[in-house]
Amino acid sequence: MKIAIGSDHGGFELKERIRSLLADLGHEVRDVGCYSTESVDYPVQAREVAHLVASGGCDRGILICGTGIGVSMTANRVSGIRAALCHELFTAKMSRRHNDANILCMGGRVIGPGLAEEMVKVWLTTPFDGGRHLRRISMMDGD
Ligand code: RB5
Repeated sequence: MKIAIGSDHGGFELKERIRSLLADLGHEVRDVGCYSTESVDYPVQAREVAHLVASGGCDRGILICGTGIGVSMTANRVSGIRAALCHELFTAKMSRRHNDANILCMGGRVIGPGLAEEMVKVWLTTPFDGGRHLRRISMMDGD
């Protein structure tokens, strides 16, 4: 899969860890930064990842900030994006099964790297259930 990844300074260390996991799993990774722990504004990276996914340039996206909140709010403003903020395995899995989430958001100051890696593995391999859930996600856009 082609996966876009981005973070702010609060998510930088976890982003580096997840980037290397994705490469080890054989995915093509597009890293939009940031590239150090120097303070940056998370909407920049969140919008870039969201646009890469919405345009079809990447299959999925992963966004990490301190809490995951700012990047998820930003990404969800881009049409076609279903960004899920998850902090444990159950919601990571269900965000794929029921919501066909195309971006996974996590908080680098909330969860540890071991859990985050397991969440990413589950999120990347769990398919969308479709059926009634397809009707529901098609009702998300509209105003
Ligand atoms: C940065 O300090 C922090 O506000 C950011 O990483 C994120 O948690 C925002 O939602």
